[in-house]
Order: sequence, then structure tokens, then C-alpha cells
Amino acid sequence: MKPSHGANLFEIQEKYGFDMNEIKDFSSNVNPLGPSPKALSKLKDNLDKIGVYPDPNYNDLLTSIENYTKINRDNIILSSGTTNLISSFIHLVHPKNALIFNPSYSEYERELKKINSNIISYDLDKSCDFAIDQDKLIKMIEEENIELVILTNPNNPTGFALEKPKLEQIITSTKAYFMIDETYVEFSDVEKYSAIKLTETNDNLLVLRSTSKFFAAAGIRLGYGITGNREIYDKINYNTNLWNVNIFAEILGTEMFKDLEYQRKVFEYVNSQKSKIISNLKKLESIKVYPSKSNFVLCEILDKNIKAKDLREYLIPHALIIRDCSSFNNLNEQFFRFCILDEKSNDKLENLIEKFFNDIK
Ligand SMILES: Cc1ncc(COP(=O)(O)O)c(C=O)c1O
Repeated sequence: MKPSHGANLFEIQEKYGFDMNEIKDFSSNVNPLGPSPKALSKLKDNLDKIGVYPDPNYNDLLTSIENYTKINRDNIILSSGTTNLISSFIHLVHPKNALIFNPSYSEYERELKKINSNIISYDLDKSCDFAIDQDKLIKMIEEENIELVILTNPNNPTGFALEKPKLEQIITSTKAYFMIDETYVEFSDVEKYSAIKLTETNDNLLVLRSTSKFFAAAGIRLGYGITGNREIYDKINYNTNLWNVNIFAEILGTEMFKDLEYQRKVFEYVNSQKSKIISNLKKLESIKVYPSKSNFVLCEILDKNIKAKDLREYLIPHALIIRDCSSFNNLNEQFFRFCILDEKSNDKLENLIEKFFNDIK
């Protein structure tokens, strides 16, 4: 069976007779401002390149990512989506014992199961807002002979993020490999939370970045990895097909990483909308709202008789789709997640959540 994540909008559209543009998808964590307009316009001007092979060295794209990340291009691995790199790295390290956090993104566990790794779970504690305790983690890595630690920073779906000095302390305390998935890091303070600079001094580290969420470009399937480990860099590239990034991803990517004004706008819009909806929802007695360093918010329904599924189903006829988080390990039927969309949709969601809990009393 193929994996699925969150809502299948095509099915919902068909079942409820919605137009695709009517549906407000609060489940897929994509920035509501859409892709960079400058990059889109460049793409439109170059649609005739469909008949041309991309540059096999991806020079322009790598220059753009190099300037954006301030990391040498010799340490940047291009990929058709972060998901591909997750799979390549796990298969390359082939860990006997791997550590994952629960709850977190489900693809890691799926890939580890394919190679029969022994999966050790660090169960995150909701009573401390799902924070990672670095001393406990270091002890677990030692005691369980962990060869690979997979950490999402900020974590999906909890929204918790570890600061760089704490990450450094963990990474330097062991020889285990680390895969740090920074798919959501641009929605937070990158200087404070990103581990990319740590790749310059630690060779047991691969940091993953995506363009699907912050840059709203999931359809082009462009991701990249950063590592200072030559062997990892060479082996992943060796196993990657020629032209694995398509020409439209190359064109869009090259432009969007340069568009600093757009990046600032996305960050400011999402964070101001997030503060507003969090502070309003916190007034409701029926739910606990967890803090978030990302563009999504995890909530827990406090009345055990009401399930996230009930709220999700209540919202669907209004064309709003949230994520019922009951399928995440170490969460239960009371948890749901929504991401930040445009102000009108956020207000509508907030009002309907409030109405749902008032009506059910
Ligand atoms: C933590 C995390 N990593 C990776 C991905 C997938 O990224 P990509 O679209 O670049 O493959 C997702 C998608 O939801 C995610 O939540």
C-alpha cells in the first residue's frame, strides 16, 4: 500500500461537490501566500524549456542555495523532494538500532521498517509541551547503542524546536549519525534553531531542507540535504539518477531562494497570524493549545467524550480540513493539528471551533 499523509483533497472534493479552490486545507502545512511571484513569473517565461534537459551540474540552482544557506555547494545534495533523501540516507546508514521521536513524521518509521532496523522510540511528554530532554536523549543513545537518530526540528506535529547549542551538545556527545529534518525551520528563527552550520564541524550529520512548505512548492518536488561528510555526500550522489531534479524545479528553485522580500513576507504573515489565532483559541476552556515554532498548531480536546474526528467532520461541510492526529504514535483521538492559512480562513476556522465546543455543551 502506498503511504498517505493527511487529507486527500481529491476525494473530499468529489464527495462534497466542492470546487478545489473552495477547500481550505489546514492539514498540509503549506504557506498560504503561495510560491514566490518572481519565481513563478520566471517559470512562466520558461515553459518552453520542457523539451530541454536540466543542467546536469545544476550550477545556477546550487549557487542560489549556496547564497541562501551560506553553506558551500560541495556540501549540498539536491533531491527530488526531501522524502527521497530520507529514504536514501536511512538505506545508506542501514542502522541496526535507530531512534525516532513519538509523535513525529511517519515516513522515518516506514523507511526503517523496510530495512528491518530495530526502532527505539523516545516518547515525547505532553506535560512538558513535547520538549526533548537532551540529557535523557544522550543517555538513550549510549544505552541502546543507537546508530542513527532522526530528529525533526521544529517537530511535526508538536511544533517543539531544540536550539542549536543543545543540538550541538547532543551531536558532539556521540558517534551516532543524525538526520535532522528542517522542513519547517524557516517558519522559526533560523539562526537560533537550524543545525546547518554544525555540518561544518561534525561529520555525523545530515540536515534536510524542503521547498514544499515554506516556499509552497510541493508540486515541483525539490529538496536538499547538507552534510560535511564526504563519504555520505559521494554515496548519496552516486546512487542518485542523473537529472533527478526536473527543469521546472531548477528554474523555480533558482529564483525563489533569491527572493528575500518574499521570504520575509511569508515569515511575518504566518507568525503574526499564528500569534493571533493561538491567543484567541487559548481562551477556550475545551482545548489545550500547544506552543509552536512552526506554521502549524497542535491542540488537545480536554473532554474525553469528544474526539478530533468529530471536530474534523463538523468542519468538512464548511470546506475546512484539519488534521485528526489520532494516527500519530503517542497521541490519541483527542489531538488535532491545523496550519496557518490566510486571515479570512483562519478567522472562519477559529469561529467554527468556538461554535463547535459551545454547541456541544
Ligand atoms: C517533517 C517532514 N519532512 C518531510 C516532509 C516531506 O517533504 P517533501 O515534500 O520535500 O518530500 C514532510 C511533509 O509533510 C514533513 O512534514
